[in-house]
Amino acid sequence: MVFSVAIDGPSGAGKSSLSEALADRLALIHLDTGAMYRSLGLQALRMGLDPSSESDAAQVLELADFQVDFEGKKQINRLRGEAVNSLIRTDEVGMAGSQIARHACVRESMLQAQRRLAENVPMIIDGRDIGTYVLPNAACKIYLDASPEIRAKRRQKQLEENGNRCDYDTIYADILRRDRQDSSRAIAPLKRAEDAIYVDTSTLSYLETLDQLEAIILDKKAEFERGE
Ligand code: DC
Repeated sequence: MVFSVAIDGPSGAGKSSLSEALADRLALIHLDTGAMYRSLGLQALRMGLDPSSESDAAQVLELADFQVDFEGKKQINRLRGEAVNSLIRTDEVGMAGSQIARHACVRESMLQAQRRLAENVPMIIDGRDIGTYVLPNAACKIYLDASPEIRAKRRQKQLEENGNRCDYDTIYADILRRDRQDSSRAIAPLKRAEDAIYVDTSTLSYLETLDQLEAIILDKKAEFERGE
């Protein structure tokens, strides 16, 4: 068994960017599973299909030829051979990713792909169901949370920094909708694993969170190496 770190939590808690920075600090590979669902969501939008329909989702899966590989430490998400990393960060694609992620055929396919990728390589994997379903035996599990208000404010700041105009109320409503969608689905909903360490970042800065997570992971790694 290899040392795996599962980081779960709601949208906008900072999982992806923190996982990326932690992977850098700790010389681990980072697998962003949200990017996988986002890529499938993008494919649905491109094909004019409805990501919330099960039969449309099955069609997307069949035609997307979705692949994830790593160039060095960088995860590349491909649709029919085309790298789509730079096209999947919009809120529209995030919502399509959340919708397509509820279907059994999609979850099963992503679950298998994620387990295969993590089987022999020590990784930090972030998502919604990593500690509960994908890697229930991960040596380190973290549940990263923040209040919806704080997550909406952070998202607004991020969008403004990138030169996008955005209205707080719309972002806040979007976050609540995504939370509802991700935690109420029948299969592998967003849920804190019982043995996950809960970190609420609402009152922490990015750097404070990063330091706290690094300390947790190093602690768990030492336990893992001692065989505890
Ligand atoms: O983390 P993110 O916002 O990039 O994820 C996009 C959507 O993908 C999210 O709203 C729900 C879905 N997702 C999931 O169902 N399971 C995961 N392990 C990761 C993401």
